[in-house]
Amino acid sequence: MKIAILTSGGDSAGMNAVVRSVVKAAILKGCEAWIVREGYEGLVRGNAEAEGTSNYVPPVVPHHSEFPPAAMDIINNLRFGDGELLRDGTGDYSHGRTLKGRYIVRVGWDDVRGWFTEGGTLIGTARSKEFRTPEGRLAAAYNLIKEGIDALVVCGGDGSLTGADVFRSEWPQLVADLRAQGKITETQAMTHSHLKIVGLVGSIDNDMSMTDLTIGAPTALHRICEAIDNINSTAFSHSRAFVLEVMGRHCGWLALLAAVAGGADFLFIPEQPPKSQPWEDQMCETIHQHRSVGKRKTLVIVAEGAHDLDLNPIRAEYVKDILTDRLGLDTRVTTLGHTQRGGRPCAMDRILPTLQGIKAVEALLEANPETPSYMIGIQENKITMVPLIEAVAMTKAVTAAIEERDFEKAMQLRDPEFRE
Ligand code: F6P
Repeated sequence: MKIAILTSGGDSAGMNAVVRSVVKAAILKGCEAWIVREGYEGLVRGNAEAEGTSNYVPPVVPHHSEFPPAAMDIINNLRFGDGELLRDGTGDYSHGRTLKGRYIVRVGWDDVRGWFTEGGTLIGTARSKEFRTPEGRLAAAYNLIKEGIDALVVCGGDGSLTGADVFRSEWPQLVADLRAQGKITETQAMTHSHLKIVGLVGSIDNDMSMTDLTIGAPTALHRICEAIDNINSTAFSHSRAFVLEVMGRHCGWLALLAAVAGGADFLFIPEQPPKSQPWEDQMCETIHQHRSVGKRKTLVIVAEGAHDLDLNPIRAEYVKDILTDRLGLDTRVTTLGHTQRGGRPCAMDRILPTLQGIKAVEALLEANPETPSYMIGIQENKITMVPLIEAVAMTKAVTAAIEERDFEKAMQLRDPEFRE
């Protein structure tokens, strides 16, 4: 089997660990590993613009056949680490071979060496307009078939995973169209009658249903906690208030967990706006009470997608004005922005993608036209496989509940055990 991996949508820490894991797991299972640069955009562009053809066959074959199924095996057998099994060599991807105009590239064991410590995504990501068009997807199908690739791993958020499932469901028609246009042979059409797809969730927001954690969320949370520690000491010194804006368009996970970890006084998240109107009174009352029992500093956390009960956005600057004007607090705003997204992955964002990448390759090897496309997740500390389409639908249901102002439903969809 030829397995290609791409990263799509907003980058997140741990995406490189996913690529590394999928590449190595594929090779260990006797498959060819390929990467697609620049997300779906790279699929659409393919290798047509490349100068000449590539004869490169990476030196990839480690000398054992059994693949460790679990973390303990990996550690005990030292089979997955960058250890003695690896040879020095010139990797196709990372060591100087020209990639100009080449978006779909075969890679070897050495190409992904050490990738799990790197932030962002080394194979690039893009928001592709082209892939959203039928012509774009036809070009993408052609480019995959041309390279003989029959399985695709997509690491991205819900939009990227929805795109993957649409692509798979359209695949037979795309193949038929390419055959009718004479772009592929009958043999190619038969060999590529089915595209196997698996999704891994890369998103700092932790906004995907049916998984407890998304890749990149632990690092982003860690980053926020460090920022809060820094803010807390200066806030304490001056007895100031800080309003901290964190990422999270439709999901308050980062804000909520940061509030718990950083000892915030008040919190705004999209799923549960403050219940009483005007919320300004509620916030001031709470903070006044905290101050009156001796707190020297105040921390209010605002998720970027926060709003009130009527869906009016709650902005950090406005919260600052309220704290200044009503409570007389010397207040500053800190917006963490993309510092939350970049940088080195924390341990969890190396371990989780490594285990999930292995599972993704296993899922592809077991897949057949009747099995759904799976999303690899983690639930109650176990790596899981759930139908991708169900997870995406449930995620969309949360956003819909918020838009319908059914906040209780939104919270219950996020956490079935949630009680008011
Ligand atoms: O979805 C991840 C995320 O980081 C959101 O939290 C944020 O709203 C968005 O991406 C920012 O996207 P961009 O990098 O395109 O500004």
